[in-house]
Amino acid sequence: MTIERTLILVKPDGVRRALIGEIIRRIEAKGYQIVALKSMSADRDLLAQHYAEHQGKPFFEPLVEFMLSGPIVAIVAEGNRVIEGFRSIAGTTDPTVAAAGTIRGDLARDQGTTVTQNLVHGSDSPESATREISIFFPEL
Ligand code: RTP
Ligand code: MG
Repeated sequence: MTIERTLILVKPDGVRRALIGEIIRRIEAKGYQIVALKSMSADRDLLAQHYAEHQGKPFFEPLVEFMLSGPIVAIVAEGNRVIEGFRSIAGTTDPTVAAAGTIRGDLARDQGTTVTQNLVHGSDSPESATREISIFFPEL
């Protein structure tokens, strides 16, 4: 039994739409523990580190601009298979086709913007989770 941790972000669209509570509710309702949580404004340096894998892609600059467009909430959640589990309750990247019942499927849609606005981020592997948690919560 491996207890994992994952980094979750409520992106600026989620904060603007007052969905912080609804998103945390779904994480807790699934049975994961919130072990750290903070409201913050990201800066360009932090986002360049966090999104290093996307540097050079056409959506990189719009993505960074979007993530700078307002406050975000950074969360560390814990539980068995939480990395996979949170991505399952988040739904697929494109909210238009994300399954009903997921955060993106229920609460987001295409806004016609150059970058996909989809409310949340979730780490995609144990290596990403360790790396991303240390970027947002160096104290952990
Ligand atoms: P995330 O990292 O935010 O949990 O989402 P993800 O794994 O489902 O998606 P990823 O491929 O890592 O992309 C990161 C974020 O960049 C935006 N994106 N927009 N073609 C597009 O418009 C596009 N592609 C990616 C999304 O906000 C995506 O969540
Ligand atoms: Mg990703």
